[in-house]
Amino acid sequence: MDDFQLNPLYEQVINDLSQQQYSIADHFFAADEVAFLRKRLLQLYEEDQFKKSAIGNLSNEHVRAAVRGDFILWLDENQSEGAEKLYFDRINDFVYYLNRTCYLGIQDKEFHYAVYPEGTFYKRHLDTFQNDTRRKLSMVCYLNDENWEADFGGELTIYLKKGNEEEAVNIIPKSGRMVIFESQLLEHEVKPVKQPRLSITGWLKTR
Ligand code: OGA
Ligand code: MN
Repeated sequence: MDDFQLNPLYEQVINDLSQQQYSIADHFFAADEVAFLRKRLLQLYEEDQFKKSAIGNLSNEHVRAAVRGDFILWLDENQSEGAEKLYFDRINDFVYYLNRTCYLGIQDKEFHYAVYPEGTFYKRHLDTFQNDTRRKLSMVCYLNDENWEADFGGELTIYLKKGNEEEAVNIIPKSGRMVIFESQLLEHEVKPVKQPRLSITGWLKTR
């Protein structure tokens, strides 16, 4: 025997993933933790630390902007303190749990902050499109403020295969909401936003 503790939140996520290939966890972080992460993102954004996102090695700005319009800042776990440390500590706890209970073999991870300015979007895609077959789970945590409204746009739409049909699931980027889904299986998109939309997005990867 050891001190392994069942975690109801993680169990819910694991169940959801096995049954529907995605999970929505609204309390992965506490409200004060979300506020802390949000404040840090805004600070880094104001310091001009973000860069236009890339798509593979595509260098044409018009083509890029027609696919995705977000600005991102990659996080370095080894340099992390404060908000980023809090984030990685929780992710590592989750990864440890996954590897113990599901044998997913998560060995690596990568995360970035993201800001979608007004009018931007990310067209339908698969997160393994850059041939990154090591990406196993996609994790998006929204850092919008608590007054985010459905009509601000920016829904994450996930496309599920139902036999020969397809079902679109629209997910509102509510403050603190964490969406986790199978990177290799689910195409998805970010609908155009009418208000700046903030998040931390990343991937858990196999070897
Ligand atoms: C991505 C992505 C979804 C979201 O960055 O690859 O699909 O809701 N993000 O921000
Ligand atoms: Mn994606």
